Amino acid sequence: MSHSMQHLLDRRTSGFSLERPFYTDAGIFDAELTSIFYREWLFALPACQLEKTGSYMRLTVGAYDVIVVKGADGAIRAFHNSCRHRGSILCEASQGQVAKLVCPYHQWTYELDGSLIWARSMGPDFDPSKWGLRPVHLREVCGLVFICLADTPPDFDSFAELARPYLEIHDLHRAKVAHTTTITEKGNWKLVWENNRECYHCGGAHPSLCQSFPIDPEIGGVTADGGASPKLQAHFDKCAAAGAPAQFRMEGDGQYRVARMPLNEGAVSYTLTGQPAVRRPLCRVSIPDAGALLFFHYPSSWCHFLPDHSLTFRVTPIGPQETQVTTTWLVDRDAVEGVDYDLQTLTEVWLHTNDEDRRIVEANQLGINSPAYSPGPYSPVEETGVIQFVDWYAVTMSKALAPRKVAAE
Ligand code: FES
Ligand SMILES: [Fe+2]
Repeated sequence: MSHSMQHLLDRRTSGFSLERPFYTDAGIFDAELTSIFYREWLFALPACQLEKTGSYMRLTVGAYDVIVVKGADGAIRAFHNSCRHRGSILCEASQGQVAKLVCPYHQWTYELDGSLIWARSMGPDFDPSKWGLRPVHLREVCGLVFICLADTPPDFDSFAELARPYLEIHDLHRAKVAHTTTITEKGNWKLVWENNRECYHCGGAHPSLCQSFPIDPEIGGVTADGGASPKLQAHFDKCAAAGAPAQFRMEGDGQYRVARMPLNEGAVSYTLTGQPAVRRPLCRVSIPDAGALLFFHYPSSWCHFLPDHSLTFRVTPIGPQETQVTTTWLVDRDAVEGVDYDLQTLTEVWLHTNDEDRRIVEANQLGINSPAYSPGPYSPVEETGVIQFVDWYAVTMSKALAPRKVAAE
């Protein structure tokens, strides 16, 4: 790579897709991990996924391996999955439940709050209080858990304050996980996001989703300055009057957004019929057609919150051309499978949609890999969200790179 990453960013044209190295180059991928994924708040999981004391999930972020675990006090904490003795990983399974965190190597034993409580034969001068697990910053807003790997995390409160009134009516503290999947897409993480931020492709690609999800940019689209069409504004106002804040708001220099968007006429949930997937609601709103609260938080998550269930998505970059997408379906904890909901009805639309998106992203990556690829223009009508994402990316990278030039290779 003859050009530095900053040079490639400087000569970028806003409104066009990025040059090939952004989607292929290992050096750029590493710079993104360092400048974005190791610095920003990342969505980890819905808090309800850790049901019991000692329930844990293991997350990978680039080179980092993190355990998120529920303590005896009910608090959720995150630690680096690396023993303070000689560094072995503590949790080998991707999730589980433990009484204590016991290292498989020499059995150093940690409390669920990370403190070291037992280490054999370490001599009289050994002070266990100095050898607790290294914590990872963790914050929760309305049942959504975020982590941050930075020593000094960026502000979280502004996002939490923006999201709280929109989220709290969705009662995620009383949710349970009905289903979760992790799929691997052979494509760059930014292609996953670019695809997510537009519905230009939806009509052609997503027959199941289009049963309930509107593809009319008049309805789905909000201009970059937050202006809504009269039809969309009427929906926002109707939801607000029913106790469900809805107005489009994008803040944090474009890093996050909330908006409660309408579904197709007559549809109330993401099912093939448009009817609710779950008989027990997971939301306190007095109208059935509040639509879907759509939120995104770059670089790690978009989520959909419906009156009857919620969906969280986590984006995990694996390599320049590989990304994992974890989808989790949440329903009320008292909803009984087979009685209050049918698992297939609940999950089929997004199982289809995720797989359709995976194929699109993989085909996009393959075409970009050709030397014949050059950046193409985004639609100013249907791809304003993509333009917004790529601009956010370029600004965030430029800011992070500013003090130094990082060679692309
Ligand atoms: S590396 Fe964990 S106990 Fe030795
Ligand atoms: Fe899609």
